Amino acid sequence: MDEKIKDAFHQAYAGESKAALRLKMYAKKAQEEGLPQIAKLFQVISFSEEIQGARALRMLREIKNTEDNLKASFESTTKIAGVAYEQFVKEAADRGDTTASTIFSQCRDVEDIHSKLYKEAMSHLMEDRETIYYVCSACGYVSDGMLPDRCPVCQAPKEQFSKF
Ligand SMILES: [Fe+2]
Repeated sequence: MDEKIKDAFHQAYAGESKAALRLKMYAKKAQEEGLPQIAKLFQVISFSEEIQGARALRMLREIKNTEDNLKASFESTTKIAGVAYEQFVKEAADRGDTTASTIFSQCRDVEDIHSKLYKEAMSHLMEDRETIYYVCSACGYVSDGMLPDRCPVCQAPKEQFSKF
């Protein structure tokens, strides 16, 4: 693919992904404000943006087989935890912003756990393993097979976990 076109698809993918999440949050807010029809509009456009983002991603040929996708996800999450978030924690701490530094350090810890989950999945790829995951809705911590009393990363109570 021509480099210029590739770059355009990258930009489309990044922009549409961000818009999809932002609109999902707007929909939640509209729902809280008692505006279900507006919430629906945000949800629908969020879904539409997601379709556009997925289309760009497919054009970039970045979706491989599952083994490769696990490997790519492991590498990306490891880099985000160890490089990006590590740096963000430091920058926030240097500026005395404890809230930001706490959030970034929790993000880093959650990403570390994602890395471990990917690594485990890579070594048990073909096994017929069935598990239940619990995700903390406050910080994103993922627990494999067990619902903790409190989130080990952010201390949220177990009622705040979603089951998958
Ligand atoms: Fe949490």
